[in-house]
Amino acid sequence: MIRTYENQKAVITGAARGIGRKLALGMAARGADVIVADIHGDEVARVCEEIKALGRTSYCIQADVSLREECDKIFEFVMDKFGRCDILVNNAGVSMNEDVWDFRDDDLHWIFETNVYSHWYMMRNFIPQMRKQGNHCQILNVCSIAGLITSGPGPAYFSTKHAAVALSESTYKQLEAAGDDIDVSVFCPGFIQTELYKSDENRPERYAIDPEDPYYKSEKYQKFYAFNKYLLDNGLPLDETSEKVFDMLSRETFYILTHDQYDGPIRAQGQFIADMTAPMGNKLSKTIDD
Ligand SMILES: NC(=O)c1ccc[n+]([C@@H]2O[C@H](COP(=O)([O-])OP(=O)(O)OC[C@H]3O[C@@H](n4cnc5c(N)ncnc54)[C@H](O)[C@@H]3O)[C@@H](O)[C@H]2O)c1
Repeated sequence: MIRTYENQKAVITGAARGIGRKLALGMAARGADVIVADIHGDEVARVCEEIKALGRTSYCIQADVSLREECDKIFEFVMDKFGRCDILVNNAGVSMNEDVWDFRDDDLHWIFETNVYSHWYMMRNFIPQMRKQGNHCQILNVCSIAGLITSGPGPAYFSTKHAAVALSESTYKQLEAAGDDIDVSVFCPGFIQTELYKSDENRPERYAIDPEDPYYKSEKYQKFYAFNKYLLDNGLPLDETSEKVFDMLSRETFYILTHDQYDGPIRAQGQFIADMTAPMGNKLSKTIDD
């Protein structure tokens, strides 16, 4: 939980757009000083200016969190500017929809490094620092409802988010057992109105799309893009959802869930597992061909 934002030092990845930007502004509005990091340097610089306009201290850093050395760079930057970190938000993430039988190696590396490895890299740096500080600290890992239940399309996204949730759960338990005053929470939303469907714009250069690759010109790819955009455009409004997150962060909550419609499927999932049946089907199971 976050007891106060007043003069707390926060760092948020993927803060140029969407959820990360909204959380950064929300924390600043509540009194925190915020370092915003993103692969898009110009865009995140604008968010930094928005935070300063709220009367808080802010710095921005261009960094690709899919690389360990870039996460180290963020840590050094935070230490240089703030000398401490009370709130770490691992938010940067991407989506893609290749199937197991036709995925590109690069794309698989890209999504796992961004959605999962970045959480490892950042927590490895920041947890020892938070321990050294000794004050109450909060880590918020932005995962997804896709980390709790699955559907058919998008196996890479589902598997990264499940891995990220498991990492958070395990880290939470270890920190609690060690008696550290560091809370870990996972935010597992359903669809929210952001531009996550434009994830290809956020590829590091080493994972740039090969324009000659027929997959990216294919109908399957175009259909996925349109379907993903449709789902996100029809998601919950970003403002309303981020307010729910702030409300839950003010309480002792590990799982931060904002989409009530998934309560039933999450409960049913446990029952299906305990009964040793097949994975549960739910309304997310609609395929992109429907
Ligand atoms: N929008 C939704 O419906 C939804 C649902 C569930 C989970 N999520 C998760 O929420 C998080 C934020 O997504 P969003 O919806 O705001 O999407 P978004 O695309 O609007 O924002 C993602 C931000 O992360 C940045 N980013 C991507 N790769 C990066 C990298 N390698 N290094 C640094 N920055 C990088 C992007 O530049 C962008 O600013 C993601 O982890 C996403 O998986 C979103």
